[in-house]
Amino acid sequence: MSTETKPAYSPGLAGVIAGETEICWVDPNAGLMYRGYDIHEMAEKASFEEVAYLLLHDDLPTIEQRQEFSRAIAAERPLPRQVLEMLRLMPKNTHPMDMLRTGVSMLAPFDPDLNDNSHQANIRKAIRLIAKVSTLIADGYRIQQGENPLPERPDLTLAANLFYKLNGDVPQAWKIRMMDTIFILYADHEFNASTFAARVTASTLADMYAAVTSACGTLKGPLHGGANEESMKMLDDIKTADRAEGWMMDALARKAKIMGFGHRVYKKGDSRVPIMREIGRDLGKRVGKEQWVPICEKLEATMEREKQLCANVDLYAAPVFTMLEFPPELNTPIFAASRIAGWCAHVVEQHDHNRLIRPRSLYTGPAARPYKGVSPNGAK
Ligand code: ACO
Repeated sequence: MSTETKPAYSPGLAGVIAGETEICWVDPNAGLMYRGYDIHEMAEKASFEEVAYLLLHDDLPTIEQRQEFSRAIAAERPLPRQVLEMLRLMPKNTHPMDMLRTGVSMLAPFDPDLNDNSHQANIRKAIRLIAKVSTLIADGYRIQQGENPLPERPDLTLAANLFYKLNGDVPQAWKIRMMDTIFILYADHEFNASTFAARVTASTLADMYAAVTSACGTLKGPLHGGANEESMKMLDDIKTADRAEGWMMDALARKAKIMGFGHRVYKKGDSRVPIMREIGRDLGKRVGKEQWVPICEKLEATMEREKQLCANVDLYAAPVFTMLEFPPELNTPIFAASRIAGWCAHVVEQHDHNRLIRPRSLYTGPAARPYKGVSPNGAK
């Protein structure tokens, strides 16, 4: 008979502090900070490369450090030939998140620092991964479309280059700025499910590629990063703002989970929503597609009234990506192209201060009972 007393238990680890971090703080009252810098200010003033540097280091870079960091990322973008061949071998209907996860895993043995978990080696791997995740997404997508990957443009920022590599056009400056802001919003979010998966993997002293492979697999799920693909299906189905309330009431009556709503930490609003909503409004005017934001707003008002649940960033990210002419199946990979910075920063922090992450479970199975199996003494 177990002598263990029943410990405290929180399903889904809700509210549980599972570790310390200096990288990011999610304020349940709709706030978000990267190493003490407010996301609202960063979204307005910073570049994604600057934010990625900040997440990986203690503070913002100097101009020289930022230039060197951006140059290093640009130089690390090309994929090994064998990885491109592997992407070509994948079935044409492979989801881009599965291509990405497999690609990250295959990149591991090409990295000379793979099994060195020292701080400096991890920073070098992080730069390679931040660069190559975007390339895996863009090259994988073009291959799936039956087209050849485009050569890299090291003169372009990560956000601009992702646009260019997908369709061959260098976007206007306002689009690049918009994409940079979206990347900044998605770059980190403390112990979200994918980052936690990365940290659990890293805590066994497995390498950064193993940790990021775990993170990619975790991000794909519709309760996490996959929500921004699912939200777009919902908005496409609703079509006009006057149908939004009825659609929502019907879905709630069926007890359906509505993508782009709810959050484990934010209960008074997602800090990123006002910025993403404004991007959606601005973009709608620029491209003549102003129908999406009013649909989202109507859904928000109905959900608030009926269930007191707030929208999360994925509700507005979905139409923003559509208006930027990305196909919905790239919504989650684009999230990953930004979140890779946060994943890597957390792996660096985990390895720098490691303790194996190994919680307990609460046993709810049968009490001890005598063996009644059919194979006594190992008989076959
Ligand atoms: N639609 C309908 N009801 C919901 C939703 C939703 N999106 N989210 C929560 N609820 C309901 C729950 O059913 C529950 O109702 P009940 O008390 O009657 O059973 C109540 O609100 C409380 O919700 P929890 O399940 O406790 O919320 P939890 O913290 O476990 O889950 C989660 C958070 C997974 C994000 C959830 O809100 C959800 O599934 N949302 C939809 C998926 C989504 O948008 N994910 C993106 C998250 S943000 C990101 O990853 C960038």
